[in-house]
Amino acid sequence: MKIVEVENGNDIGQKAAEVVIRQLRDKPSSVVTFPTGNTPLPLFRELAAASKSHPRLFEHAHFVTLDEYADIARKDRRRLFSWLSREFFAPAAIRKEQVIAFDPSADDEAECRRIEERLEALGGLDLAVLGLGPNGHLGFNEPGSCFDSRARKVALAPESIVSNSTYWGSEADVPTHGLTLGLGTLREARAILVLVSGRAKAHIVSRLLKEPISEGIPASVLRLCPQSTLMADRESLSVAFRR
Ligand code: PGA
Repeated sequence: MKIVEVENGNDIGQKAAEVVIRQLRDKPSSVVTFPTGNTPLPLFRELAAASKSHPRLFEHAHFVTLDEYADIARKDRRRLFSWLSREFFAPAAIRKEQVIAFDPSADDEAECRRIEERLEALGGLDLAVLGLGPNGHLGFNEPGSCFDSRARKVALAPESIVSNSTYWGSEADVPTHGLTLGLGTLREARAILVLVSGRAKAHIVSRLLKEPISEGIPASVLRLCPQSTLMADRESLSVAFRR
C-alpha cells in the first residue's frame, strides 16, 4: 500500500479526481465503485465539473455501488443509492444503464449474487475508491469480515450506527443491516484508492498502519494489496506520524 499525503480534504478531492480522470482516459470502459460519506464530496464536485468540460468522459464507464442499507424500501429516503445519485450520478449526467446498484427490496442473497455476477461479466473492478470507517471498515465490511468475503448482507457495527446517525437524525433512524461488496471483491480491483481526511480518523489510520494485519481492522487488508493507495490529509496522519 502506497501512502500519498495531501494538505486537506479539498486537496483530496482534487488529487483523487486526477486519479479517476486518468483511469477513465486510459480505459473509457472502466468499472468503478465510489464510497458514500463526507470524505468523497469534494471528489464528486471535481468530477461533476470535469463532466461539464469533458462531456464524454464517463460515457462508457460503469459504476457499481459499494454498499447499501438492507431491509429498506427501494424509495427509502436513506437509500445510499439516492445519496450517490444526488452527489454524483445526476451532477455528472451518468445514465441509469451505467449503474449497477444493490436493490434493498430484493431478496438479499439473490441480490448479492446478481451484483457479483454483473461485476464479473464486466470484467471486475478497475478502480475501487473507498472511504475508511472510524472502526476500520471498508464499505460495510465491519471488523471481523473475512478478507475473502464476497457481496453479502451484514449487521452494522455499533460504531457505524453511531457515525451514520449524523446523516439521518438519530441512531434509531439508521438501518441495522447493510449489503456490501466483500473485501475479497474489493481486493481484486486493479487499483484501490482509499480517501481519509480529518483528525477524527487519525487514530484508526494509525492502527491501520501500525497494528498487525488482521480481520479486526478490515482496512488492514490493503497492506496486502500492492495496487492500493491511501490518500490521507495531514490531520488524519497526525497520530501515525506523531505531529
Ligand atoms: P465519512 O465515512 O467519509 O463520512 O467519514 C466513511 C465511512 O464510514 O466509510
